[in-house]
Amino acid sequence: MKNFIKGLPKVELHLHIEGTLEPELMFELAKRNKISIPFSSPQAVREAYQFHNLQSFLDIYYQGANVLITEQDFFDLTWAYLLRCKQDNVVHTEIFFDPQTHTDRGIAFKTVIDGITRALRQAKEQLDISSQLIMCFLRHLDEEAAFATLQQALPYKDQIIAVGLDSSEQGHPPEKFARVFEAARNAGFLTVAHAGEEGPAQNILDAIYLLGVSRIDHGVRCVESTELVQQLAESRMPLTVCPLSNIKLKVFEDMAQHNIVDLLETGLCVTINSDDPAYFGGYMTDNFVAVADAHPLTRQQLAQFSLNAIEASFIEHPQKATLS
Ligand code: ADE
Ligand code: ZN
Repeated sequence: MKNFIKGLPKVELHLHIEGTLEPELMFELAKRNKISIPFSSPQAVREAYQFHNLQSFLDIYYQGANVLITEQDFFDLTWAYLLRCKQDNVVHTEIFFDPQTHTDRGIAFKTVIDGITRALRQAKEQLDISSQLIMCFLRHLDEEAAFATLQQALPYKDQIIAVGLDSSEQGHPPEKFARVFEAARNAGFLTVAHAGEEGPAQNILDAIYLLGVSRIDHGVRCVESTELVQQLAESRMPLTVCPLSNIKLKVFEDMAQHNIVDLLETGLCVTINSDDPAYFGGYMTDNFVAVADAHPLTRQQLAQFSLNAIEASFIEHPQKATLS
Protein backbone atom coordinates (compact mmCIF):
# COMPACT_ATOMS: atom_id res chain seq x y z
CA MET A 1 0.00 0.00 0.00
CA LYS A 2 2.90 2.35 0.81
CA ASN A 3 4.15 2.14 -2.79
CA PHE A 4 0.67 2.76 -4.16
CA ILE A 5 0.33 5.84 -1.93
CA LYS A 6 3.79 7.14 -2.84
CA GLY A 7 3.00 6.91 -6.56
CA LEU A 8 -0.52 8.31 -6.29
CA PRO A 9 -0.68 11.80 -7.84
CA LYS A 10 -1.61 14.21 -5.05
CA VAL A 11 -2.98 17.71 -4.70
CA GLU A 12 -2.30 19.64 -1.50
CA LEU A 13 -4.81 22.29 -0.45
CA HIS A 14 -3.88 23.04 3.17
CA LEU A 15 -0.24 23.89 3.71
CA HIS A 16 1.22 26.83 5.66
CA ILE A 17 4.54 27.69 4.06
CA GLU A 18 5.87 28.87 7.44
CA GLY A 19 5.00 25.40 8.72
CA THR A 20 7.49 23.78 6.34
CA LEU A 21 10.49 25.34 8.13
CA GLU A 22 12.57 22.29 9.06
CA PRO A 23 14.86 22.70 12.10
CA GLU A 24 17.99 22.36 9.91
CA LEU A 25 16.91 25.28 7.72
CA MET A 26 15.90 27.23 10.83
CA PHE A 27 19.48 26.89 12.09
CA GLU A 28 20.97 27.77 8.70
CA LEU A 29 18.83 30.93 8.40
CA ALA A 30 19.50 31.92 12.02
CA LYS A 31 23.23 31.75 11.26
CA ARG A 32 22.90 33.58 7.93
CA ASN A 33 20.85 36.38 9.51
CA LYS A 34 22.71 36.46 12.85
CA ILE A 35 19.58 35.74 14.85
CA SER A 36 19.81 33.87 18.12
CA ILE A 37 17.36 31.00 18.71
CA PRO A 38 16.71 29.35 22.07
CA PHE A 39 17.84 25.86 20.96
CA SER A 40 21.25 24.17 20.87
CA SER A 41 20.63 21.91 17.84
CA PRO A 42 18.00 20.87 15.28
CA GLN A 43 17.44 17.77 17.43
CA ALA A 44 16.65 20.00 20.44
CA VAL A 45 14.15 21.91 18.30
CA ARG A 46 12.41 18.63 17.37
CA GLU A 47 12.28 17.56 21.01
CA ALA A 48 10.52 20.82 21.89
CA TYR A 49 7.69 19.99 19.50
CA GLN A 50 5.37 18.50 22.12
CA PHE A 51 2.01 20.21 21.82
CA HIS A 52 -1.13 19.86 23.92
CA ASN A 53 -3.40 22.06 21.79
CA LEU A 54 -3.38 24.53 18.90
CA GLN A 55 -2.16 27.51 20.97
CA SER A 56 0.85 25.66 22.39
CA PHE A 57 1.89 24.93 18.80
CA LEU A 58 1.26 28.46 17.52
CA ASP A 59 3.49 29.98 20.23
CA ILE A 60 6.49 27.95 19.01
CA TYR A 61 5.56 28.30 15.34
CA TYR A 62 5.50 32.12 15.34
CA GLN A 63 8.85 32.13 17.16
CA GLY A 64 10.36 29.86 14.48
CA ALA A 65 9.34 32.28 11.72
CA ASN A 66 11.61 34.97 13.19
CA VAL A 67 14.58 33.60 11.23
CA LEU A 68 12.92 34.49 7.90
CA ILE A 69 14.23 37.89 6.85
CA THR A 70 15.22 38.20 3.18
CA GLU A 71 13.60 37.41 -0.17
CA GLN A 72 16.17 34.59 -0.51
CA ASP A 73 15.02 33.12 2.84
CA PHE A 74 11.42 32.94 1.62
CA PHE A 75 12.62 31.45 -1.66
CA ASP A 76 14.73 28.80 0.13
CA LEU A 77 11.85 27.91 2.46
CA THR A 78 9.39 27.48 -0.41
CA TRP A 79 11.84 25.66 -2.68
CA ALA A 80 12.66 23.10 0.03
CA TYR A 81 8.93 22.37 0.38
CA LEU A 82 8.49 22.04 -3.40
CA LEU A 83 11.34 19.51 -3.59
CA ARG A 84 9.46 17.49 -0.96
CA CYS A 85 6.33 17.77 -3.12
CA LYS A 86 8.24 16.21 -6.01
CA GLN A 87 9.30 13.25 -3.82
CA ASP A 88 5.67 12.70 -2.76
CA ASN A 89 4.23 13.11 -6.29
CA VAL A 90 2.32 16.25 -5.30
CA VAL A 91 1.49 17.70 -8.71
CA HIS A 92 -0.41 20.79 -7.57
CA THR A 93 -0.30 22.71 -4.30
CA GLU A 94 -2.24 25.65 -2.89
CA ILE A 95 -0.07 27.36 -0.31
CA PHE A 96 -1.04 29.59 2.63
CA PHE A 97 1.19 32.41 3.76
CA ASP A 98 0.72 34.65 6.80
CA PRO A 99 2.01 38.12 5.83
CA GLN A 100 1.23 39.60 9.27
CA THR A 101 3.71 37.22 10.93
CA HIS A 102 6.38 39.00 8.90
CA THR A 103 5.15 42.56 8.35
CA ASP A 104 4.67 42.93 12.13
CA ARG A 105 8.45 42.26 12.44
CA GLY A 106 9.27 44.92 9.87
CA ILE A 107 9.66 42.61 6.86
CA ALA A 108 8.11 44.10 3.71
CA PHE A 109 5.09 42.36 2.15
CA LYS A 110 6.99 42.48 -1.16
CA THR A 111 9.98 40.59 0.29
CA VAL A 112 7.71 37.76 1.45
CA ILE A 113 5.63 37.38 -1.70
CA ASP A 114 8.54 37.86 -4.12
CA GLY A 115 10.56 35.06 -2.48
CA ILE A 116 7.61 32.65 -2.39
CA THR A 117 6.42 33.33 -5.95
CA ARG A 118 9.96 33.06 -7.41
CA ALA A 119 10.13 29.51 -6.02
CA LEU A 120 6.63 28.72 -7.33
CA ARG A 121 7.57 29.87 -10.84
CA GLN A 122 10.78 27.81 -10.74
CA ALA A 123 8.78 24.76 -9.59
CA LYS A 124 6.45 25.09 -12.58
CA GLU A 125 9.43 25.25 -14.96
CA GLN A 126 11.79 22.72 -13.35
CA LEU A 127 9.54 20.32 -11.41
CA ASP A 128 6.25 20.56 -13.35
CA ILE A 129 4.40 21.39 -10.13
CA SER A 130 1.58 23.93 -10.44
CA SER A 131 0.43 26.09 -7.55
CA GLN A 132 -1.78 28.82 -6.19
CA LEU A 133 -1.16 31.19 -3.31
CA ILE A 134 -3.64 31.96 -0.49
CA MET A 135 -3.06 34.87 1.87
CA CYS A 136 -4.29 34.25 5.43
CA PHE A 137 -5.34 36.79 8.02
CA LEU A 138 -4.26 35.99 11.58
CA ARG A 139 -7.55 35.81 13.48
CA HIS A 140 -6.01 36.66 16.87
CA LEU A 141 -5.25 40.12 15.43
CA ASP A 142 -7.98 42.69 14.87
CA GLU A 143 -10.18 43.52 11.89
CA GLU A 144 -8.32 46.76 11.22
CA ALA A 145 -5.02 44.88 10.83
CA ALA A 146 -6.71 42.45 8.42
CA PHE A 147 -8.03 45.37 6.34
CA ALA A 148 -4.52 46.89 6.22
CA THR A 149 -3.14 43.53 5.05
CA LEU A 150 -5.82 43.26 2.35
CA GLN A 151 -4.79 46.72 1.18
CA GLN A 152 -1.15 45.61 0.94
CA ALA A 153 -2.19 42.58 -1.12
CA LEU A 154 -4.09 44.51 -3.80
CA PRO A 155 -1.03 45.24 -6.00
CA TYR A 156 -0.35 41.45 -5.98
CA LYS A 157 -3.91 40.41 -6.84
CA ASP A 158 -2.76 38.46 -9.89
CA GLN A 159 -0.52 36.32 -7.67
CA ILE A 160 -3.02 35.54 -4.89
CA ILE A 161 -6.09 33.42 -5.69
CA ALA A 162 -7.82 33.58 -2.32
CA VAL A 163 -7.75 34.88 1.22
CA GLY A 164 -7.98 32.62 4.27
CA LEU A 165 -8.26 32.78 8.04
CA ASP A 166 -5.93 30.97 10.44
CA SER A 167 -4.36 31.07 13.93
CA SER A 168 -6.30 30.74 17.22
CA GLU A 169 -9.87 29.66 16.44
CA GLN A 170 -11.16 29.78 20.00
CA GLY A 171 -12.35 33.28 20.91
CA HIS A 172 -11.96 34.53 17.31
CA PRO A 173 -15.07 33.40 15.39
CA PRO A 174 -15.64 33.98 11.66
CA GLU A 175 -18.03 36.91 12.27
CA LYS A 176 -15.05 39.01 13.43
CA PHE A 177 -13.85 39.02 9.80
CA ALA A 178 -17.17 39.18 7.91
CA ARG A 179 -16.55 42.70 6.61
CA VAL A 180 -12.95 42.16 5.52
CA PHE A 181 -13.94 38.94 3.73
CA GLU A 182 -16.72 40.82 1.96
CA ALA A 183 -14.18 43.42 0.83
CA ALA A 184 -11.84 40.64 -0.32
CA ARG A 185 -14.61 38.96 -2.34
CA ASN A 186 -15.53 42.31 -3.88
CA ALA A 187 -11.88 42.73 -4.88
CA GLY A 188 -12.05 39.38 -6.72
CA PHE A 189 -10.46 36.99 -4.22
CA LEU A 190 -11.93 33.57 -3.45
CA THR A 191 -12.20 32.79 0.26
CA VAL A 192 -11.43 29.88 2.58
CA ALA A 193 -11.23 29.68 6.39
CA HIS A 194 -10.01 27.41 9.17
CA ALA A 195 -13.15 26.35 11.03
CA GLY A 196 -14.18 23.40 13.17
CA GLU A 197 -10.59 22.44 14.02
CA GLU A 198 -10.79 23.32 17.74
CA GLY A 199 -13.88 25.51 17.42
CA PRO A 200 -17.52 24.37 17.29
CA ALA A 201 -19.58 23.25 14.27
CA GLN A 202 -21.25 26.68 14.30
CA ASN A 203 -17.94 28.17 13.07
CA ILE A 204 -18.23 26.01 9.94
CA LEU A 205 -21.71 27.33 9.22
CA ASP A 206 -20.56 30.90 9.90
CA ALA A 207 -17.56 30.48 7.58
CA ILE A 208 -19.96 29.36 4.84
CA TYR A 209 -22.67 31.99 5.37
CA LEU A 210 -20.74 34.97 6.76
CA LEU A 211 -17.43 34.57 4.92
CA GLY A 212 -18.68 32.99 1.66
CA VAL A 213 -15.94 30.35 1.65
CA SER A 214 -15.31 27.89 -1.18
CA ARG A 215 -13.64 25.40 1.21
CA ILE A 216 -13.45 24.74 4.93
CA ASP A 217 -9.96 24.16 6.33
CA HIS A 218 -10.11 21.25 8.83
CA GLY A 219 -13.87 21.11 9.54
CA VAL A 220 -13.62 17.82 11.45
CA ARG A 221 -15.93 19.05 14.22
CA CYS A 222 -18.81 19.09 11.69
CA VAL A 223 -19.82 15.72 13.15
CA GLU A 224 -21.29 17.56 16.14
CA SER A 225 -24.27 18.42 13.89
CA THR A 226 -25.84 15.65 11.77
CA GLU A 227 -27.71 18.33 9.84
CA LEU A 228 -24.44 20.06 8.96
CA VAL A 229 -22.80 16.79 7.88
CA GLN A 230 -25.74 16.15 5.56
CA GLN A 231 -25.51 19.68 4.17
CA LEU A 232 -21.74 19.33 3.56
CA ALA A 233 -22.29 16.02 1.78
CA GLU A 234 -25.07 17.40 -0.43
CA SER A 235 -23.25 20.61 -1.34
CA ARG A 236 -19.86 18.86 -1.72
CA MET A 237 -18.34 21.70 0.29
CA PRO A 238 -14.70 20.56 0.55
CA LEU A 239 -12.98 19.95 3.89
CA THR A 240 -9.18 20.18 3.82
CA VAL A 241 -8.42 17.70 6.60
CA CYS A 242 -4.94 17.39 8.16
CA PRO A 243 -4.66 14.00 9.88
CA LEU A 244 -1.17 14.17 11.48
CA SER A 245 -1.80 17.77 12.58
CA ASN A 246 -5.03 16.71 14.32
CA ILE A 247 -3.21 14.02 16.29
CA LYS A 248 -0.25 16.27 17.23
CA LEU A 249 -2.63 19.02 18.41
CA LYS A 250 -4.85 16.54 20.28
CA VAL A 251 -7.99 17.14 18.23
CA PHE A 252 -8.25 13.31 18.21
CA GLU A 253 -6.62 10.94 20.69
CA ASP A 254 -5.10 8.75 17.97
CA MET A 255 -5.43 8.07 14.24
CA ALA A 256 -7.85 5.16 14.79
CA GLN A 257 -10.27 7.69 16.37
CA HIS A 258 -9.95 10.14 13.44
CA ASN A 259 -13.24 10.66 11.57
CA ILE A 260 -11.81 11.27 8.06
CA VAL A 261 -12.76 7.83 6.73
CA ASP A 262 -16.30 8.07 8.16
CA LEU A 263 -16.65 11.44 6.43
CA LEU A 264 -15.37 10.00 3.15
CA GLU A 265 -17.84 7.12 3.36
CA THR A 266 -20.68 9.57 4.10
CA GLY A 267 -19.92 11.26 0.76
CA LEU A 268 -18.20 14.46 1.90
CA CYS A 269 -15.53 16.02 -0.29
CA VAL A 270 -12.73 15.36 2.23
CA THR A 271 -9.07 15.74 1.29
CA ILE A 272 -5.76 14.83 2.99
CA ASN A 273 -3.21 17.59 3.67
CA SER A 274 -0.10 18.20 5.76
CA ASP A 275 -0.82 21.63 7.39
CA ASP A 276 2.61 22.31 9.02
CA PRO A 277 4.67 19.25 8.07
CA ALA A 278 7.93 20.36 9.71
CA TYR A 279 6.12 20.55 13.06
CA PHE A 280 3.72 17.62 12.81
CA GLY A 281 6.04 14.88 11.58
CA GLY A 282 5.05 14.35 8.00
CA TYR A 283 4.41 15.56 4.47
CA MET A 284 1.66 14.34 2.11
CA THR A 285 2.71 10.70 1.70
CA ASP A 286 3.19 10.39 5.48
CA ASN A 287 -0.33 11.71 6.07
CA PHE A 288 -1.88 9.26 3.58
CA VAL A 289 0.12 6.37 5.08
CA ALA A 290 -0.84 7.30 8.65
CA VAL A 291 -4.54 7.22 7.71
CA ALA A 292 -4.19 3.95 5.75
CA ASP A 293 -2.29 2.30 8.63
CA ALA A 294 -5.07 3.06 11.09
CA HIS A 295 -8.09 2.42 8.85
CA PRO A 296 -8.84 -0.31 6.29
CA LEU A 297 -8.91 1.60 2.99
CA THR A 298 -9.15 0.36 -0.58
CA ARG A 299 -7.01 1.80 -3.37
CA GLN A 300 -10.19 3.29 -4.79
CA GLN A 301 -10.80 5.16 -1.52
CA LEU A 302 -7.20 6.41 -1.39
CA ALA A 303 -7.52 7.64 -4.97
CA GLN A 304 -10.83 9.30 -4.02
CA PHE A 305 -8.92 11.64 -1.68
CA SER A 306 -6.92 12.85 -4.70
CA LEU A 307 -10.03 13.11 -6.89
CA ASN A 308 -11.72 15.14 -4.16
CA ALA A 309 -8.71 17.46 -3.96
CA ILE A 310 -8.82 18.05 -7.72
CA GLU A 311 -12.54 18.84 -7.46
CA ALA A 312 -11.87 21.21 -4.52
CA SER A 313 -8.83 22.94 -6.02
CA PHE A 314 -8.68 26.39 -7.57
CA ILE A 315 -6.89 25.05 -10.67
CA GLU A 316 -7.97 27.04 -13.73
CA HIS A 317 -10.83 28.54 -11.78
CA PRO A 318 -12.84 30.93 -13.99
CA GLN A 319 -12.56 33.50 -11.20
CA LYS A 320 -8.85 33.73 -12.03
CA ALA A 321 -9.76 35.65 -15.16
CA THR A 322 -11.06 38.48 -12.98
CA LEU A 323 -7.91 38.68 -10.89
CA SER A 324 -5.87 40.94 -13.13
N1 ADE B 1 -1.54 28.18 11.42
C1 ADE B 1 -0.70 27.21 11.08
N2 ADE B 1 -1.25 26.01 11.29
C2 ADE B 1 -2.49 26.23 11.80
C3 ADE B 1 -3.55 25.41 12.20
N3 ADE B 1 -3.49 24.07 12.17
N4 ADE B 1 -4.67 26.00 12.68
C4 ADE B 1 -4.76 27.32 12.74
N5 ADE B 1 -3.79 28.14 12.36
C5 ADE B 1 -2.66 27.60 11.88
ZN1 ZN C 1 -3.86 25.06 8.91
